[in-house]
Parts: sequence; C-alpha cells; structure tokens
Amino acid sequence: MNLCVLGAQWGDEGKGKIVDLLTPHFNVVARYQGGHNAGHTVYVAGRKFVLHLIPSGILHPGVVCFIGNGVVVDPQALFAEVDELAGMGFDVAGRLYVSDKAHLILPYHRELDILSEARRGERKIGTTSRGIGPAYEDKIGRRGVRVGDLRDTSPDGPLVGAVRENVDARNRLVGNSDMKWQDVVADLRTAWTRLEPLVADVSLRLGQSMAAGQRIMFEGAQGTLLDIDHGTYPYVTSSNAVAGGACTGLGIGPKAIGAVLGVAKAYTTRVGEGPLPTELHGAMGERLRESGQEYGASTGRPRRCGWYDAVAVRYAVRINGLDALALTKLDVLDGMGSLDICTGYRCGGEVLTDMPGDTAQLAACEPIYETLPGWTQPTRGVTRYGDLPVEARAYIRRLEDVSGVPAAVVSTGSERDHTIIRDDSVAAGWFR
Ligand code: IMP
Repeated sequence: MNLCVLGAQWGDEGKGKIVDLLTPHFNVVARYQGGHNAGHTVYVAGRKFVLHLIPSGILHPGVVCFIGNGVVVDPQALFAEVDELAGMGFDVAGRLYVSDKAHLILPYHRELDILSEARRGERKIGTTSRGIGPAYEDKIGRRGVRVGDLRDTSPDGPLVGAVRENVDARNRLVGNSDMKWQDVVADLRTAWTRLEPLVADVSLRLGQSMAAGQRIMFEGAQGTLLDIDHGTYPYVTSSNAVAGGACTGLGIGPKAIGAVLGVAKAYTTRVGEGPLPTELHGAMGERLRESGQEYGASTGRPRRCGWYDAVAVRYAVRINGLDALALTKLDVLDGMGSLDICTGYRCGGEVLTDMPGDTAQLAACEPIYETLPGWTQPTRGVTRYGDLPVEARAYIRRLEDVSGVPAAVVSTGSERDHTIIRDDSVAAGWFR
C-alpha cells in the first residue's frame, strides 16, 4: 500500500524523521511539492542530516527517490545537497531522479522574492527568501523554465528565448540591467551536465513501480495550514502541501494513495507571519522554543510556539483525509505543570469549532482551551506506549479525541529509535 506523509499544521512537524523511519518499508519515496524552503531534519546514530529538496528516504541505500513535477528546483541547491550527502557517505547515483516537468528556480527568483517582501513592508509573508513564490508565479504565468527545457542546446532556441524574456522583465522591474541573460543561460548549460543523468519521467516511473508491486511513500513539505489554497492565505507557501498535491505534483491518480499520515507536533509552531491562534508570547512560549529547539532548519529563524490547536488539526484531517497522526516531540512537554489544548475559537461572540476560511477572522479568534495535567517523569526515548507516564497517555488520548484520528506513531526524541509505533493502530500495516 502506498502512503502519503504530510504536515498537519504549519510545517516543521518532524516529517523528515517520520519519512526516514517509515522508509525501510517502502521501495520508493517521492516528494511532490515545495522546494529548498523545506528543512527536513533527520538524526541517525547521533549524526544530523538536514534535507531540503531530496526526500528523506535517501538515507536508506536501495530506496529510489523522486523529485516530482510539483517541486521547484534550484539546481545549485540540489547539487549542494547531493555533495553534502556524498561527503557523509551517501551516494545518490542511480537512486535519485528529478522530473523533467519540474520548474527551475533561477537567480532572478531569489532576488524577486526578497524585493517582493520588501515591497509588502508590514504585510510581508516572512518567506524563506529562496525564490519559491516567484518560481511558482512563473510556472502559473506560463513563462517558467522546466528541467526538461535544458535539453535545448541551440543558441537561439526556446530556452534562450524564455530566459532572455524573463531576465528582461526582471531588469525592467528592478530598474537596472546588471543581470545578463547570457550569464544565466551559461549557468544553466553547466547545470545541465550534472542534471541530465538525474532527469526522468517521474509519473511514468512511479506507474511502473506500482505495476511491479512496489510500495511508494509520497512525501509532502511545509504543512496543511501553509497550503496555497487551504492554508492561511496569503500567509502561505506557493504550492499544494495537502494530499491532493501528491496527485498533481507527481502525476499519479488519487487511488494510488492508499493511506494518509498527518504529522503533527504535540504542540504548535509556525515560522513566518500570519495568524497562529494558540501562540504563547511569554515565558511559556520561550520555554517551548528552547526545549523544542524551535529554530528554522532552513533559515535559523526562531519559530513561534503555542499550545496544540485541535481546530487546525481537525481541519487537516478533513482536507487530507488523514487516517492517522504521527505525533511528534512529546518529550518537549516533559515537566510542564499543565497543558492546554485548543478545542475551539471564540470569534466576535461566536464559538467556532471549524477553521474559518477568512484569515482576518482567524487572526481575530481567541482560543478556547481545556487544561490537562502535565507529567514529571521524562518521556524522552520511550519506545513503548505503556511506558509513558499516565498523564502523557491521557494527553495523547485527548488529542486523538479532539483531533478525530488516532495517533498511530508517537515520537519521543530526535533519533530514529525514539519512537512508539502503536501496533494496535491503523499504522501497523505500514510497518510490515
Ligand atoms: P516561502 O515558501 O519561502 O515562500 O515562504 C512562505 C511561508 O511559508 C513563510 O511563512 C515561511 O516561513 C513558510 N515556510 C516555507 N517553508 C517552510 C517549512 O519548510 N517549514 C515551515 N514553514 C515554511
């Protein structure tokens, strides 16, 4: 059975660890959207790996990884990651492929991302400045450059024409002409020599894998509340992080997705701007940030921290058709006297139990909390559910009740084996 693993909150839920953990039970891992704005951190035997573009499955020799058409690819970021993996003893040759339909992030995209944020001033999104938004803008504007376009080596062919037009547009916008299309083309030609052996028809390859009975994991980046359509627009990323994105971002049919696992922290974080109803501004927020080491894996920015928001996770359950949750960073809550869970919002005299579609309304919402006792005994590294303190089990049970799906996996630390897999849960089959 094929499994889709995605973020059920605002990103940074710990998808990297969960994908890495599940990978031995799959033959293929395929990333379907986003770019190197993502930071998927995996710890193996005390070593830290931060993957941005390459699926976290790459750390398992023998597993084939795909970067789908829905991903935007910065060739230099890709090469840097390949080199870093090689330096750590992981050879990607013959097991990493990139869709020829994936759009490229070009130098002017990074620049336009920064300019666009500066122009927005106080209304800035808080992007990762990686050029993600402008690259997707060009894709939707039908002027983007795709990986497969680099096959065109003629001096006045469509590739040169597209780059020239785009660089001219950039120069008009920026008001100078210090970027030369010839330089951009020359860099792309150099990049192609390295990219060419990686290029594949990803949809076809995935279809062939399924026909051969192989198991595929579809890996999302960012999270449901950062989805371009279903997130807290405009404070979102520019792609479909939800389960539906796996279909369009890889060229698979919806029936190829056998199950959907949502990854959620046992509390909530967000990096960048936009509403976060359960945000804690005082010492408690600071405490979560410090004990959870809540700093962006890509940008190092401090993450905003707050209590578990069950309204947000219930929404993720509906939008993605989640079968279960992987609940991460439970150990970060060790030693808290009590824990709040947001079960609804109070908004202009009204009580909402469903996520409002209007971001301004969400920003005006006050969380409605219920409070549970915390636990003193450490949970870090616990591998059996029964070994968790009784209060921690009660907390998880309540999260399951208010979120609407079981927590099939509970993560109690950053290492692979700091994990509880609930054998009695829907996830049991995914680990066989
Ligand atoms: P962009 O994806 O760089 O355009 O940034 C848009 C928004 O998504 C900003 O709030 C970013 O902080 C957020 N974002 C992008 N990638 C990630 C991620 O991997 N984790 C968490 N937030 C992200």
